[in-house]
Amino acid sequence: MKIVFGIDFGTTNSALSVYRNGAVEVIPVEEGEGPAELMRSVLYFSEDNEIYTGNEAISHYVCDEAAGRFMQSIKTFLPNTSFDSTEVFGKRYTIDDLVAIILKKLKKRGEAHVGHAVESVVLGRPVVFSTDPAKDAVAQQRLERAGRKAGFKNIWFQYEPVAAALAFEESLQPGQERIVFIGDFGGGTSDFSVIRVKGGAFDRSDRRSDVLSMGGVYVAGDKFDSQIMWDKIAVYFGRYARYQTMGKDEWVTFPRSIIYTLCQWHRIPLLRGRATREQIRVIKNNTDDRQALERLESIISDNYGFYLFQAIEKAKCELSHRERSIIDFTERDLHISQELSKEEFEAINGENFRKIEECIDEVIARSGIAPARMNTVFLTGGTSRIPHIRGLFAHRFGTEKLEERDAFTSVVHGLGSSVPLFI
Ligand SMILES: Nc1ncnc2c1ncn2[C@@H]1O[C@H](COP(=O)(O)OP(=O)(O)OP(=O)(O)O)[C@@H](O)[C@H]1O
Ligand SMILES: [Mg+2]
Repeated sequence: MKIVFGIDFGTTNSALSVYRNGAVEVIPVEEGEGPAELMRSVLYFSEDNEIYTGNEAISHYVCDEAAGRFMQSIKTFLPNTSFDSTEVFGKRYTIDDLVAIILKKLKKRGEAHVGHAVESVVLGRPVVFSTDPAKDAVAQQRLERAGRKAGFKNIWFQYEPVAAALAFEESLQPGQERIVFIGDFGGGTSDFSVIRVKGGAFDRSDRRSDVLSMGGVYVAGDKFDSQIMWDKIAVYFGRYARYQTMGKDEWVTFPRSIIYTLCQWHRIPLLRGRATREQIRVIKNNTDDRQALERLESIISDNYGFYLFQAIEKAKCELSHRERSIIDFTERDLHISQELSKEEFEAINGENFRKIEECIDEVIARSGIAPARMNTVFLTGGTSRIPHIRGLFAHRFGTEKLEERDAFTSVVHGLGSSVPLFI
């Protein structure tokens, strides 16, 4: 009996499916808070070099008061060729070592579920890891290496939106055929495809001719969080602070590059370099907003960016079913209670939405099929819950064509359904 796993290693969440006897099952991989089918794609290294994943990583990070190293959005680093490895408490980890830790954990949970070792896996990948083909290839190679380090011998790749389409396909009646626009809006990327799906039994060994077009952009949930940070919260950390340079009377604005890095929370540790810290210290002594600069120093050294971004993300998610929400955050003498309306959220993300729209229109155009001739729009991924995203499709296709379900498990289910394409 052939058993193959499907693994959706996501920017925010990861999941595992089991393919056996022609059937696919998404299995529980996590305990504690949140849905059991999802494991947060995070790592925590404690000072004594224990490594934790998912909920365990989060609870250790919280209990240890961040004395160890916490990492998230690791997938984002895969195409980044200038980032190869990182040192944690004297040990060096390459990017594929880090990914392997998460894959290995999922593999173990899957093996415990089926009762024996499993050596084959279909891994999901976004349509575009990077627009630079060389970097894109590096990202997939790193993911493959991570799979091998996790103990898999046979590794295949499937595009995430194609996987979502295959999951959707299973809900069709025998004989039903549909042209579907798939939109998978996750934490790191928004991925699209136009694909022909069919219900019932047929030869599924080659589906290449059914995929009519694909595309993707690096604009998704994380980007929206960063944008909120930039427009609403960065002011607390010196975005509008001015300072006087040595021996001159004129006032200059605070360096944008530092604020920019601050807005991508997983990059905040990069600001710990000696030169940057010295630069901030000098500015602090010559600024009109010393308090903001002190907060900036403390977020860099005390690493509370994670909590701040959680507060931002929470407020963002609330706006999917409410008109306004509050970004509520307290850390020592910093109290933020910043209101954010849905309207404002949409306005500050105008450019991000435009990039998404451009990509959607390109994928539609390349498919050679007009929206009126497509039967269904299937939206999945956590970020598809944002009403404005749904609006983009309602506007182009009409609300009656929109289908949304299984925001967090369609891709992993479809990775399991992809197995017959490979074995
Ligand atoms: N109700 C909601 N409203 C808006 N955004 C949401 C909601 N629920 C979850 N999200 C966002 O969805 C994202 C996570 O979605 P998902 O698990 O599909 O991503 P992923 O698969 O890990 O990422 P990727 O596919 O890009 O690698 C996060 O950015 C999260 O903030
Ligand atoms: Mg995803």
